[in-house]
Amino acid sequence: MTAKIINGKEIAKNIRQSLKEKISLLKTPPALAVILAGSDPASEIYVKNKEKACHEVGITARTHKFPATVSEKELLDLINDLNRTPDINGILVQLPLPAHINSEKILQAVSPAKDVDGFHPLNTGLLQQKSPDTFIPCTPKGIIRLLHSLSLDLTGLNAVVIGRSQIVGLPVSNLLLQENCTVTVTHSKTQNLSALCRSADILIAALGKPEFITKEYIKPSAIIIDVGINRTPNSLKGDVRLKDALDTAAYVTPVPGGVGPMTIAMLLENTFEAFLKQNRP
Ligand code: GUN
Repeated sequence: MTAKIINGKEIAKNIRQSLKEKISLLKTPPALAVILAGSDPASEIYVKNKEKACHEVGITARTHKFPATVSEKELLDLINDLNRTPDINGILVQLPLPAHINSEKILQAVSPAKDVDGFHPLNTGLLQQKSPDTFIPCTPKGIIRLLHSLSLDLTGLNAVVIGRSQIVGLPVSNLLLQENCTVTVTHSKTQNLSALCRSADILIAALGKPEFITKEYIKPSAIIIDVGINRTPNSLKGDVRLKDALDTAAYVTPVPGGVGPMTIAMLLENTFEAFLKQNRP
């Protein structure tokens, strides 16, 4: 059997197009401030892609770059300024921050109303309470959109999430529960991972190991969502061996062109939503 590829690139393109049309009707453009500290090559690429995507839909984006030696106070001072600037609708602090910086303290300094990444504890709590008045982290939000694009009833399906990060694993687990899935969150200490994965109707692979998920982890006819972005010397690899997923599963997201473009589209959507919330009559 050959699984269907879930074309995240195409779905994200349609979302960006629809946002562009809505933004063109506004009197002033939404604005995003991005904070990048240090010179992690992957972060530099992500930030450049986010900036470019913003400009293409009519969102103003400005990146504030700092050397790896930046102090916590410098970052906090900038965040406080951006919080108070009415023209700035969204603030994104690119992770990881340099090791000497307390990331929790920095993320908590971002005004929850401008927290387009949804990493502030208030927004995390609101997500858990199923409040519509939160920002849903971009990658998990994009994953749920990809699942919705299949027009399947997800009620009662077994979802297995590999990874328990604040960025992907935990929030996507919450969202899958809201879809009435039965959710198992696994991690590096989990025993019998392959057996658990083989019971998964939906498998979310967010462990960061190139092509770790092979045939023996995949239930026939499952939906496989590959969140991995692993840069190897010659190519970009997901956490899933695509060939094995194509042979066994019903649906699979490719890398690149699956979850990645959706993360960016959801950032644009969250920034637009922040603008609307801040400009409610
Ligand atoms: N680093 C890896 N993923 C993300 C993300 O979604 N947002 C931010 N700010 N940093 C990240």
